[in-house]
Amino acid sequence: MTNPILIVNELGVLARRNGSVRKVLDGISLQVGEGEIAGLVGESGSGKSMLGSAIGGLLPRGCEAHAGEILWRGQNLMGAGEAVLSALRGSQIAYVFQEPMTALNPTLRVGRQLVDVIRRHAQPDAAAAKALALGLLADVRIEAPHDVFEAWPHQLSGGMRQRVLIAMAFSCKPALIVADEPTTALDVTVQAQVLSLLLTLARERSTAVLLISHDIGVIRRACETVYVMYAGRIVERGRTAAVLDAPQHPYTRALLDGLPGRFQPKTRLNALPAGGPAASGCAFRSRCASAFDRCGEVPPLADLASAGAAACWLNQPASVEGASA
Ligand SMILES: Nc1ncnc2c1ncn2[C@@H]1O[C@H](COP(=O)(O)OP(=O)(O)OP(=O)(O)O)[C@@H](O)[C@H]1O
Ligand SMILES: [Mg+2]
Repeated sequence: MTNPILIVNELGVLARRNGSVRKVLDGISLQVGEGEIAGLVGESGSGKSMLGSAIGGLLPRGCEAHAGEILWRGQNLMGAGEAVLSALRGSQIAYVFQEPMTALNPTLRVGRQLVDVIRRHAQPDAAAAKALALGLLADVRIEAPHDVFEAWPHQLSGGMRQRVLIAMAFSCKPALIVADEPTTALDVTVQAQVLSLLLTLARERSTAVLLISHDIGVIRRACETVYVMYAGRIVERGRTAAVLDAPQHPYTRALLDGLPGRFQPKTRLNALPAGGPAASGCAFRSRCASAFDRCGEVPPLADLASAGAAACWLNQPASVEGASA
C-alpha cells in the first residue's frame, strides 16, 4: 500500500436505543492508502454505513465511538470537536451517499448548492466559484452544464443528481471519498456508468475511495483491497483478487455462493440457513456449517500467508492458536 492516509485501530461503536446499549462496531481495524480504492462489503446490517460515517464523524444520533482510534494523516479524530470534523469533511474527506435526492436541498437550484460548497471550502470568490462549478459539471460528463447549473434537483434524473453529488464531492479536492452504496438507488442502466465515472475521476486525481457495497461484483471490478464485514466486525481482509478467488472465512465463501436476503437474488441456491448473528463467540457460528467448539470464543483477525487476514478458528496460524489457547 502507498502511505496510509486513514488508519482505523480497534474502533468500537455503541448504539443506544430505548434504554438499551448495543455494540454495532467492535474491534474494527482498517487502512486506506493514498489514492487507494478499498471496498467494504457485507450483508445488510453488518455495519458498513456505521463504519463509513464514523470516519468523518457522521454517526447517527444515539451512536457513539467509544473505543479505538481513527487516525487521519496521523491525527486522532476520536473526540475531535465538530468544528475540526466539519472542516475536514469539506476539505479532505468527502461523502457520496446512496440517495442523491436526500443529499440535495430541493429548494435551491443545483448550481447554487455547488457554488455554496466551493465558496465555503475552496474558493470564496463568487465568479471563480461559478466557473469552477461549471467545470466540475463538465468533468462529471454532464453535456449541458449551464442548463444543469440552473436546474432544480427534481428536474434531474437520479443518475444526473448523483453526477452532481460526485462533482460536489470532488469540488474541494478531497484525499478520500467515502462512497456508501453510490449507485444502489439508480436505474440498473446507469449504475455502471455512474460508478465508472466516480472511479475514473478518483484515479485521475489520486483520490482514495472507500467504496461501500453489498454487490461483490462491483467490489471485484473496482477495488484493490477489500474488507468483509459481518455483525459489526471485519471477518476477512486482503487483496481483492486473493480474497474473492480464495476466500478464507466461511462467511466470505457464503457471500460468494449467495446468501438469502438482500445480498443476492433470492432465486440463487444457497447452502446456508438464514438467521441472525450468534450473541456470543464468533457471530457467524449460528449459520456456519464448519462451526465447532472453539467458535464459542471470538476468533482474532489473524494474518494469513496470502498477506490477507481472516477471523476464523479454522485459519489461525499455530502462534495465534497457541497464544489464545
Ligand atoms: N441510527 C441508528 N441507531 C441505532 N442503531 C442503528 C442505527 N442505524 C443503524 N443501526 C444498527 O447498526 C447496525 C449496522 O447498521 P448499518 O446501517 O451500518 O448496516 P449496513 O451494513 O450499512 O447495512 P445496509 O447494507 O442495509 O446499508 C445494524 O444493526 C443497525 O440496525
Ligand atoms: Mg448501509
